[in-house]
Amino acid sequence: MTRASEPHTTALPHWEDPPSDLAAAIREIKPVLRARIEASGRSAEEVFAAVECRIETRIAEIDADRARGEELWPVLDYDAIADGTVTPAQMAKLKKRGCLVVRGHFPREQALAWDAGIVDYVERNEFFENYRGPGDDFFGSVGSKPEIYPVYWSHAQMQARQSDRMATVQSFLNSFWRHTGDDGTQWFDPDRDALYPDRIRRRPPGTDSAGLGTHCDPGTLDLWMTEEYQKAFRHLFGGTVEQYDPWDAAHRTTGPQYPGSTMCSAFRTFQGWTALSDMDADQGVLHTVPIPEIMAYLLLRPLLPDVPEDSMCGVRTHQVFPVTKRWHPTLYHALTPIPDVRAGDSVWWHCDMVHSVAPVENQQGWGNVMYIPAAPWCARNERYAAEVREAFVTGSSPSDFPAEHYERTWTDRFTTENLNETGRRGLDLV
Ligand SMILES: [Fe+2]
Repeated sequence: MTRASEPHTTALPHWEDPPSDLAAAIREIKPVLRARIEASGRSAEEVFAAVECRIETRIAEIDADRARGEELWPVLDYDAIADGTVTPAQMAKLKKRGCLVVRGHFPREQALAWDAGIVDYVERNEFFENYRGPGDDFFGSVGSKPEIYPVYWSHAQMQARQSDRMATVQSFLNSFWRHTGDDGTQWFDPDRDALYPDRIRRRPPGTDSAGLGTHCDPGTLDLWMTEEYQKAFRHLFGGTVEQYDPWDAAHRTTGPQYPGSTMCSAFRTFQGWTALSDMDADQGVLHTVPIPEIMAYLLLRPLLPDVPEDSMCGVRTHQVFPVTKRWHPTLYHALTPIPDVRAGDSVWWHCDMVHSVAPVENQQGWGNVMYIPAAPWCARNERYAAEVREAFVTGSSPSDFPAEHYERTWTDRFTTENLNETGRRGLDLV
């Protein structure tokens, strides 16, 4: 009998809450991960080499496209999405690159009016007079002036979240995922969004910003250590990496996430934002490594012998998942800026993807966005929706974010009477 015929003989230890001794938990899980991979017939190093080869092939494709002067980010007109006229080649490029710019997602005048409406809302409620400084330690690093507004319940944000045009794009993006398993389990509903409330960024002209380092957002140590993520990444932790599909939602939409100041309780198929100003690609914009299967590389890299046995390449709880030149040098080469965007365009990237925000000096023009992801209805998002509902009704900061609660006393918040059917479904107020 070959070893390959008896895979997964060793059960993985798991921690549904963050382990109290992180180093001890990492030392405990690493040899078991290696043993499970070896049971498939290859060592962890051999399996990682296969993953690295797949990633390097992607990087070579990116280099070739770049050399030809081709736009690396897929770009689609909103009308093509709404009319169902996106071509198979465009669909294939989106699936390969895991990201998208939607041109004209909203009319430019609408986006500029929303931006002006936000200014009016925060000024009328004396936000700048009462601003107490950054409420967290991640975006907080960009400076003491409010570039990130901890504002969640403006008319602009809610109108965009519950709009038909947003729902159309979210359904389109969700359709790239396998949301229903072979056994009929529906892991999420691609046509119902949970309206994940997030903040606003308004970065003024002349800004000097250090940007944000390269990282990814779907979790931290929980990606290796909780039972549901271990099932979601079963092909990585079982040595069958060739079968790993970054678009399979199975077990991603059910489990817990370790708490932290940068956590996202919701399952997002794509992270996204809608531009409220024009932004050129050299003005400190979002960059991604446009490779959706990157999680295979990130989760297996710590099993190589050059990484200390109590380290997951610097991943800790309560901090963002760092992607570093020390442990992931290959990836930097593929960091790619978004193309120039105009007010009303939207930008999307697969939830696993590595991204950063470039530094800028003396920024030209405004850099204004509303963060609105695709967070389809699923067990995890239904749980969080109860907290969102409460925050919405009281004007509080949602529980994923610092407890700043500026809007509780503000006038002219978006309220229950302003919800349409999409909004009520998203908040489970049907
Ligand atoms: Fe991020």
